[in-house]
Amino acid sequence: MPKKLDLTDNLEKYIIDHSEKLSNVQKEIIQHNISLGEQQRLQISISQAQFLQTLIKVSNVKKILEIGSFTGFSALSMAMALPVDGTLISLDKNPELSNKAKYFYDKAKEKRIKQIIKPALESLKELKDTKNLFDLVFIDADKENYLNYYESCMDLIDKKGLIVIDNVLWHGEVADDANNDKFTNIIRDFNNHVKKDKRIIKNIIPIGDGLTICIKK
Ligand SMILES: C[S@@+](CC[C@H](N)C(=O)[O-])C[C@H]1O[C@@H](n2cnc3c(N)ncnc32)[C@H](O)[C@@H]1O
Repeated sequence: MPKKLDLTDNLEKYIIDHSEKLSNVQKEIIQHNISLGEQQRLQISISQAQFLQTLIKVSNVKKILEIGSFTGFSALSMAMALPVDGTLISLDKNPELSNKAKYFYDKAKEKRIKQIIKPALESLKELKDTKNLFDLVFIDADKENYLNYYESCMDLIDKKGLIVIDNVLWHGEVADDANNDKFTNIIRDFNNHVKKDKRIIKNIIPIGDGLTICIKK
């Protein structure tokens, strides 16, 4: 068995330092989120953003749907990896956070992001009714609805489409049998559902809080 890497904060810093550089607006969003205190934990990690950008580029993704935008770091990072004619629809129910995200998209002169501000399940139903299709869906909103989002999104992607889900390792707690709290169990149930799903090929990547990458067969 090869030696296991211990991903310390120092090593994470080294990885970020030797990967694609962040833009000024990406850095500004991170600084803004840090100023929010506890809430900064809602943002995906820098390594996750860089990984998503690589995934978008290698898979020639043109249409992205994001569920849960917070202050816009993940949406802006993904949009930056799109081709010029690409589009990203970002769903969030919170108007203040969405306004802040819009401020950052404008500052970055990023015109490919469209925001829909209402409960995501309503938006997903409308997107399905209007026969929208996406190449990649990124799920990162309320955990109680992960299963609903996942099942709704299955109708919004074609064969070979991608569904990427954040927080699937839940700070490592999913593998701790002694932990029985509500959210750990929600994520465990979700992961078990994905594990049994024969419609997709799946892979859990241990960056940030854990990403599952699903490819529709
Ligand atoms: C973890 S944060 C998203 C972080 C973001 N992807 C990033 O990396 O910066 C979750 C977001 O989901 C939104 N949210 C929670 N419940 C929602 C719902 N039912 N419908 C739409 N958005 C929701 C919250 O307002 C919050 O902005």
